[in-house]
Amino acid sequence: MPEPRWRRGHTVAAVGALVALAAGVAIQLRPPTEEPYDGSVKMIDLYDARKPWRLGAKLGLLSECAEACLAGTDPTDVEMLKSSTSGTFDIVDVCVVRCSNGLKSKGEISYVNRSNVSDLPPEGLVEYAQCAARCQQNSTFDANATDEEVQAALTRCGVVHLRGALEPQLLQVVRSAWAELRTGGSFSGFKPEDLLDGSHVRAKRDEVWLPFVEPFNNPGLLSISRVSSLLSEYLGAKPLLDHVTVISAAPGRVQEQVLHGDVIRGRSHIEVHVPLEPVSQEMGPTRFCPCTQNLLHHDTAAGRTVYRHFGLQRHCSIWKNLFYDFLPVLGDVTVYDSSVFHAGLANTATTERPVLCLAYVASKELLSERNYTSGILQSKSAEARELAMREVRKFRGEN
Ligand SMILES: *[C@@H]1O[C@H](CO)[C@@H](O)[C@H](O)[C@H]1NC(C)=O
Ligand SMILES: *[C@@H]1O[C@H](CO)[C@@H](O)[C@H](O)[C@H]1NC(C)=O
Ligand SMILES: *[C@@H]1O[C@H](CO)[C@@H](O)[C@H](O)[C@H]1NC(C)=O
Ligand SMILES: *[C@@H]1O[C@H](CO)[C@@H](O)[C@H](O)[C@H]1NC(C)=O
Ligand SMILES: *[C@@H]1O[C@H](CO)[C@@H](O)[C@H](O)[C@H]1NC(C)=O
Repeated sequence: MPEPRWRRGHTVAAVGALVALAAGVAIQLRPPTEEPYDGSVKMIDLYDARKPWRLGAKLGLLSECAEACLAGTDPTDVEMLKSSTSGTFDIVDVCVVRCSNGLKSKGEISYVNRSNVSDLPPEGLVEYAQCAARCQQNSTFDANATDEEVQAALTRCGVVHLRGALEPQLLQVVRSAWAELRTGGSFSGFKPEDLLDGSHVRAKRDEVWLPFVEPFNNPGLLSISRVSSLLSEYLGAKPLLDHVTVISAAPGRVQEQVLHGDVIRGRSHIEVHVPLEPVSQEMGPTRFCPCTQNLLHHDTAAGRTVYRHFGLQRHCSIWKNLFYDFLPVLGDVTVYDSSVFHAGLANTATTERPVLCLAYVASKELLSERNYTSGILQSKSAEARELAMREVRKFRGEN
């Protein structure tokens, strides 16, 4: 599956951006560093080609630094990398952070003179914004969509939504089982309080480790027909099940999550989410920033810039054409690369928002490396942890 065009390694020039502008849509993109950001979503910023596309000082500098650092780093960067405590930085990251914070001296090859940083967006950033705008409108597919279309969208957007992908009867059984587990005193011999984790998921969501019993271990759920082939293709490997939980956002209690990727490495982990209730805006849907996946240590300046500015620094959630909130109906299944930036919103409604989460991974090594269960049931007894881990291992097919 080819990567989106903007991610491929080619040097971009101001000329390229002008051509992109002349060819069609231009995007007004003023980062909040230009004016203090007041926390509100400012505008839909797709403009016609006559309007200038401006980068603003910080994004412009970051972009030029990424170019410069991909072209070459300096001995000081190497020294800094050695003493860096961040296990995820590569030499280019170190260089970019130093450069964009004005910590490079004039003698360094990746020094960027701020006073002549280009105000024109490089082609790669134009393409990112176009990618996000397109995915915002076109990442939901019904049963008539071809596998190729869905695959291409997942590769491009990092997230797709499959309408009616879960068989209604099975969904109904799972919803009933969840209701019983949640509110009944016990389910197949499991006590709900033994499985409930109140501190494992960001921003006060409850996570319930599911027991390996019907209907939660139903093959129709663990490998949803349409989804399985999508995952294999995307990961380039037979997907392994990592864990199956229900993450539930209690009304009035759960807060908005900080925008994040679940993992930093792309095309390694995939989440499959099955909402057990339809989600309204008030119930706090998931906000996605499409086209931000799989950008760690990217080999293009645009990839580096998007990852840092729009992802890590969370600016994608400021511009209306770079994110969307997905409101699922029953039967919808969301599939996303775990590295795509997203956030669950606050539940201000009066009903709970339970989502069944199936997490898949490309290899045993990656499963160990993520170690999702490391903080499992911290506030519970060792027996409760062992009980939940036993069920996790059954889902993983480990015994
Ligand atoms: C930066 O560029 C400006 C304009 O091109 C130039 O006047 C200035 O001397 C440069 N500064 C440095 C430190 O190179
Ligand atoms: C930026 O400034 C440097 C010198 O400070 C100069 O050599 C270079 O050509 C300038 N770049 C642009 C795009 O004007
Ligand atoms: C979304 O897809 C529809 C139908 O294929 C197309 O007409 C529309 O232009 C697309 N929207 C974007 C923003 O790409
Ligand atoms: C799929 O296509 C068929 C035939 O065109 C149509 O009758 C059906 O409504 C479509 N299904 C969906 C979910 O759009
Ligand atoms: C996962 O985390 C647990 C608890 O911190 C630890 O005991 C275990 O060794 C870790 N597993 C791997 C594979 O790192």
